[in-house]
Amino acid sequence: MAAKGKVCVTGAGGYVASWLVKILLSNGYTVHGTVRDPHNEKNAHLKKLDKASENLKLFKVDLLDYHSLSAPISGCNGVFHVASPVPSSSVPDPEVQLMEPAVKGTLNVLKACSEANINRVVFVSSVAAVSMNPDWPKGQAKDETCWSDKEYCRRTNNWYCLSKTEAESEALKFAKISGLDVVTVCPTLILGPMLQSKTNASSLVLIKLLKEGYDELENRLRMIIDVRDLAEALQMTYEKPEAEGRYICTAHTIRSKDLVEILRRIYPKYNYPKKFTEGKEEEKICSEKLQKLGWQYRPLEDTLVDSVESYRQSGLLD
Ligand SMILES: NC(=O)c1ccc[n+]([C@@H]2O[C@H](COP(=O)([O-])OP(=O)(O)OC[C@H]3O[C@@H](n4cnc5c(N)ncnc54)[C@H](OP(=O)(O)O)[C@@H]3O)[C@@H](O)[C@H]2O)c1
Repeated sequence: MAAKGKVCVTGAGGYVASWLVKILLSNGYTVHGTVRDPHNEKNAHLKKLDKASENLKLFKVDLLDYHSLSAPISGCNGVFHVASPVPSSSVPDPEVQLMEPAVKGTLNVLKACSEANINRVVFVSSVAAVSMNPDWPKGQAKDETCWSDKEYCRRTNNWYCLSKTEAESEALKFAKISGLDVVTVCPTLILGPMLQSKTNASSLVLIKLLKEGYDELENRLRMIIDVRDLAEALQMTYEKPEAEGRYICTAHTIRSKDLVEILRRIYPKYNYPKKFTEGKEEEKICSEKLQKLGWQYRPLEDTLVDSVESYRQSGLLD
């Protein structure tokens, strides 16, 4: 494998970033990973990745401290900005706990990238920045032209959606003003095996579906992407010169009840929801732009089986 140059990945120890680091290392990149504490046990898995001893260097970074970003970013060709808080329940102080790290953190990363003449930044946004738009025409699939309505997010206390919408729109505004090449990727619910030891919010959604034994659950529409396919999409949007603007990244659209039926068929023994209430009508989300770039994804069953096997290995499931 020929050397591919040096890239920085922020929040390297997280669920998505760990897979991205793994794939980048296996494809010949040298990776600078930023973490809040390089010596924390929760980042230990990174050091065990193939080629990590030669080609991965971890840096202690606080996203809110602009100066801490220059060491990992300078000398890199590209940056993947992945770090952002993803809470699994509501937080007491959303301005401080969500908005600041997401928005100010992103602008700090982008300023450091501009300073270091980075060729391209790939920013991990979310479908949360796409879908919260009550004015979108009913029945029409949501694409990259759809933005979540910030006022609506604020009114409905949807702070995570607001943090991602604000961070992505500020990132694209910064790109326009500064000339920095920024591509954004908006994934839907991310599932698939975990490399890290600390359970992340989206894996918890599936774990709860398997073991919580809900009395009833809304039969809502779920849009799912495999973490490994997302990591490939992030690498692809970095490498393809023609990539530009926003990319929605999603693979499978399925109602919760049908998802549970697939799981129950393969793993009958778990404690599944007992009843489903009717789910509301929702517009589908379309990932055609990314597929036109050449991106492909794996079957849903593979994602589900590999997820469950990974939870079993980590002792999260029997
Ligand atoms: N999982 C999904 O379904 C999903 C869907 C759409 C988009 N996304 C986006 O994907 C990205 C990665 O999420 P994930 O699922 O991999 O979640 P994760 O495992 O919780 O990773 C989040 C990462 O962000 C870092 N981080 C959080 N708050 C921070 C702060 N204040 N300062 C510095 N670093 C901070 C975390 O570091 P620590 O380990 O030190 O806390 C961690 O490395 C996020 O941008 C998220 O919005 C995720």
